[in-house]
This record gives sequence, structure tokens and C-alpha cells, in this order.
Amino acid sequence: MDLIHRPRRLRRTDAVRRLCRETRVSPDSLIYPIFFDETLHGIRPISSLPGQYHYGLDAVHQAVDDCLEHGVKHCILFGLPAGKDACGSSAYDENGVIQKAVRAIKASYPDFNVITDVCLCEYTDHGHCGILHGHEVDNDDTLEVLAKTALSHAAAGADMVAPSDMMDGHTAAIRSTLDRSGFSRTAIMAYSAKYASAFYGPFRTAAGSSPSFGNRKGYQMDPHNRREALRECALDIEEGADIIMVKPALSYLDIIRKCADSFDYPLCAYSVSGEYAMIKSAAASGLLDEHRTMCETALSVFRAGADMLITYYAKELAGAMRAGEIG
Ligand code: PBG
Repeated sequence: MDLIHRPRRLRRTDAVRRLCRETRVSPDSLIYPIFFDETLHGIRPISSLPGQYHYGLDAVHQAVDDCLEHGVKHCILFGLPAGKDACGSSAYDENGVIQKAVRAIKASYPDFNVITDVCLCEYTDHGHCGILHGHEVDNDDTLEVLAKTALSHAAAGADMVAPSDMMDGHTAAIRSTLDRSGFSRTAIMAYSAKYASAFYGPFRTAAGSSPSFGNRKGYQMDPHNRREALRECALDIEEGADIIMVKPALSYLDIIRKCADSFDYPLCAYSVSGEYAMIKSAAASGLLDEHRTMCETALSVFRAGADMLITYYAKELAGAMRAGEIG
């Protein structure tokens, strides 16, 4: 056969396949979500996220050591507070669950990168991401509380704060509050294009953050939209975001690619709870090979253009990268 082009030549051996890889990934780009529960002692499995745990504040070392042993150097923290009220005041309590967790982590592991999720839904008794006026989340009143919360995380020693509330102007409000208070070095990872997604279900069960009425469509993005994601990213960048984010990941690979091509800023993708739970449950019923599916889906997010990935599989992925299964 007289074929000029034989693409299979570059697929013949493992060495050549590795040489020609277009996507390179490393454990340096993985961020692991950790849930701290103020009322818990030790650790407790999360029923909606098989293989994940709630950690008590006395289990900080267990949580971080496990990351470091797997080669994961970044975490994002979520809190389950002992008490909730209408305005989420436990979110900015200097002795709140996240503030205590950050101080404890930073005291023992100064080089472990600590990102904190900044939102009110875990701290409000109604489960919405902000301050209610009637049945609507008031944007500007919420900004004040978010800024206070971010400041309390920075004061506790967080390296980065990550506002996930989808209020307009959140990045500007947080940036100016941090700068005025002497925290100009604290970075902002903005959840810029965060969609109103069904894939957050297992997280809300885990974090006790489901809205008690209605839904989040009045602030999170409509899944029909692509151009709007660009506007949201542009706004966060103008307002001072250091890193932008697209969330969820797997159903939004087109958005990730578009944002990667459009902005010269580090781009994070969040492979959310439902994405993890889908693989877990398909694997548990024997339908999919969990390890290979985990690797392939994570690769797809990096191939789409993400620079970094928040994932419940961070530890296993770091292992797969070190073993050379992906990399
Ligand atoms: C807080 C927040 C949510 C997630 C991250 N931060 C839940 C939500 O918006 O309802 C979801 C993460 C996941 O599903 O893994 N607002």
C-alpha cells in the first residue's frame, strides 16, 4: 500500500506515544476539596460522595498528611458550621470552622497551599448563597458579608480566597477589602463561570447547603449560555481576579476551551461532586473501569484548556500521574 501518511507510526510504542503527547499534566495542578465539620471529632465517611470524608478540627493532620503523601499540594476548604442564621454570620466568625482549620493547617504546614471557598450557603439557615430580601438574594448586601468572610479567611492565613457565590461585583468587593486591610498578597481565585447545575447535588448533601426553597438560577449561570461566560470572566479579571474558573467541568468543556483561548489568565476547572459520583456509581455497578474513566475525564479537562483542576479524585490522579499512566 502506497500511503504517505501513517499516523499509527507515532502510536507504535509507549515511548513514542509519550514523546508526542499534546497534553502534559502534573500533580502540581491538582486541588483537593476538604470538608471540615465543626461538630465532628475524627473523620466520618460522606454518604453522598463514596470515598470522601468529613474531617473534625482535630483531624487536620490526618487530612493534610494524606494529601501530601499522595503528592497533592493544594486544597480548597469547605466548612460545616455548628450554627447557622439568616445572614450567615458563622461564615465570618474569626473562630469559625474554616478560620480555625486554616490557622491549624498553616501552623503545621506553611507550604501547603490553602484556598478557601467563600460563600454563605453552608452558613445561612435558608441555604441560599447570600442575604435574602423577601425570597430574593440581595446582591449588594451580600457583597459586604462576602468581603468580611474573605477577610477573616485571609487573616487566618489562607493563601487564596475563592468566591463561589456568583454575586455581581464580588471580586471587586473582596479585593478592595483585602487591600485596605493589608492583605494585598492574598490571591483571588474567582468562580467566574459557575453554572446552575444539577451536578452539585452530592456536594449539597455533604455540605448541608441545599436551598430550603427555590433554586440558585437567579444568581448562577444558565447552562444554555456561552458568551455570558466570557463576560463573567472579563468582569472578574477587571475586578482583580488572579485566577478564573469554569464550573462544572465535564459538561462545560466548550466553555473551558473558549475561556482558555480568550484570556491570558490562569484557568481553573472544577470537576464537581456529581461528576465524581457518576463515575463512582457506574464503577460500583461494574459498568465502567473507575481508574481509566477517572484518568480520561481529567485529561479531557486539561486538554480543553484548564491549567488546574479541583477534583475529589486529586489523590488518585496524582498517583496515576506519578505512575506515568497519564502525564
Ligand atoms: C458553594 C459551592 C457549591 C459548590 C462549590 N461551592 C454548591 C452550590 O453552588 O450549590 C459545588 C461543588 C461540587 O458540587 O462539588 N456555593
